[in-house]
Amino acid sequence: MANRQPIVAGNWKMNGSQAESAALLTGLKKGLGTVNKAKIVVCPPFILVPLAAKELAGTTAAWGGQNLDTHKSGAFTGEVSGPMLKDFGCSYVIIGHSERRTLFGETDAMVAEKFKAAQDAGLIPILCVGETLSEREANQTEAVVARQLDAVVNTLGIAALANSVVAYEPVWAIGTGKTASPQQAQDVHRFIRGRLAAKDAKVADGMRILYGGSMKAANAKELIGQPDIDGGLIGGASLVADEFLAICRAAD
Ligand code: PGA
Repeated sequence: MANRQPIVAGNWKMNGSQAESAALLTGLKKGLGTVNKAKIVVCPPFILVPLAAKELAGTTAAWGGQNLDTHKSGAFTGEVSGPMLKDFGCSYVIIGHSERRTLFGETDAMVAEKFKAAQDAGLIPILCVGETLSEREANQTEAVVARQLDAVVNTLGIAALANSVVAYEPVWAIGTGKTASPQQAQDVHRFIRGRLAAKDAKVADGMRILYGGSMKAANAKELIGQPDIDGGLIGGASLVADEFLAICRAAD
């Protein structure tokens, strides 16, 4: 098995004033030295990206966006492009988060386009996949995750996945305090890796597959300890510096 460097990414969603975010970033910076192996990524709302860039420049932490538009520039009121994120030092961008899919109508096809736009801009996409509760109850988990993955793999080719990250986020676990059990998560992570391996064993072996959905310091170690779980995509718990850092240490 490849020796995959774990990644812990914080998805701040639409949270934080300037002052709160500055305090959070200061708290994170103070604790970075306590994290050894895990790659730390912070994804603030667009308007706070310059602040993260300023505070995290020169540290071991990276930063990224939560979304991007597929165009490079132009008459797309309200949108932000990949090159703009890159210009502010972003290394990563979250693609196809379930909130984007369900609240903002992002289809599998749009997610594939955004994945490509991210890579064209030199950003590493964090591709989110995951089933709803009714899909899980209908035993559709693997079918849904396969469809979401295939939308990218079949459009862009498996080679495009080589420099990317996948996040498995069961929709029913996001922001609910209800985490997938380590075994439930591991089963889906193994399925994802297996599906990628059927196309390219090397890409599959190197792929960091993050778990997301109510991960916190108290459950991180057990989840990330699973053989196919390579870190976390953290919502609520990424808004508290000490909690987020504790998750990063659990990933070490
Ligand atoms: P949560 O969110 O940690 O608050 O459940 C995870 C996510 O949506 O990325």
